[in-house]
Amino acid sequence: MRVPVLAHSRAELIDLLAARRAVGERVALVPTMGALHEGHASLMRVARERVGSGPVVVSIFVNPMQFAAGEDLDRYPRTLEADLKLCEREGVDIVFAPSVDEVYPGGEPLVSVEPGRLATVLEGKTRPGHFRGVLTVVVKLFGLVRPDVAVFGQKDYQQLALIRRMVTDLCLGVDVVGAATQREPDGLALSSRNQFLDGEQRQQAVALSRTLRAAQEVSEYGTEVALDAARAELRQAEGVDLDYLVITATDLTELPAEVPAGTEARILIAARVGTTRLIDNLPITLGTSPEARVTEARKGAS
Ligand code: PAF
Repeated sequence: MRVPVLAHSRAELIDLLAARRAVGERVALVPTMGALHEGHASLMRVARERVGSGPVVVSIFVNPMQFAAGEDLDRYPRTLEADLKLCEREGVDIVFAPSVDEVYPGGEPLVSVEPGRLATVLEGKTRPGHFRGVLTVVVKLFGLVRPDVAVFGQKDYQQLALIRRMVTDLCLGVDVVGAATQREPDGLALSSRNQFLDGEQRQQAVALSRTLRAAQEVSEYGTEVALDAARAELRQAEGVDLDYLVITATDLTELPAEVPAGTEARILIAARVGTTRLIDNLPITLGTSPEARVTEARKGAS
């Protein structure tokens, strides 16, 4: 195990990385807001696989710009000591833990990233401005670390899709890797927010992943069948206040009315359990069953 070097300032970070880059090493970045858990640890492992002995940088920064007034910015757990231990266990080289002033020296920036229409749906609908804050801080971190690879969790699927889109649309030249969601044995997706659930809510929260799995199991029969199965599963769930349940294209755009057999898509859910808002998603392959293909062929022939 090696102890990661802790950098609080931009200058320290830039110096540390310059030395590593000078010898031709590739740099990986895992952006986080701290309160690290096994889900984050898996991102660090993916980063390590991508850069071998090159530096893995973990940033820990609770970004005020992505929280609206009244959201849980103050309630967000800050656990730097425990986070550093986890980074050490995972062989992280550099932890960048800047203050708000270090990241936003002049307050909120005059220029920010406009995330476009994909940020107005799903999470963006209930959290206006959230993705502008996320993309702005991510682009700042890219500017400071200048990573070859950046690893994000698939659990925040809309965030991942928007970051991919930003990197493509703004030609940022970073290889964005989406790492698989880590789950508890009963299926609950790991999240820093799970700690806000009491015992009963923790049991109820598993309904989110069950709902997605129910859809996944019958997705070969198409979108409507999959959504019906998911809704039937949800009707049995107690204490779950649904916000959305949707199937979209993998880049989060809308699917066409008729999807060809074998279309890769994504099913996403958001719900409140008690006062805690949880999200989850799974990949889904639509319309591959022989029955679905027959139906499609008939439609084509008529
Ligand atoms: O997913 C998160 O933890 C944050 O949204 C991120 C990407 C670190 C930006 O603050």
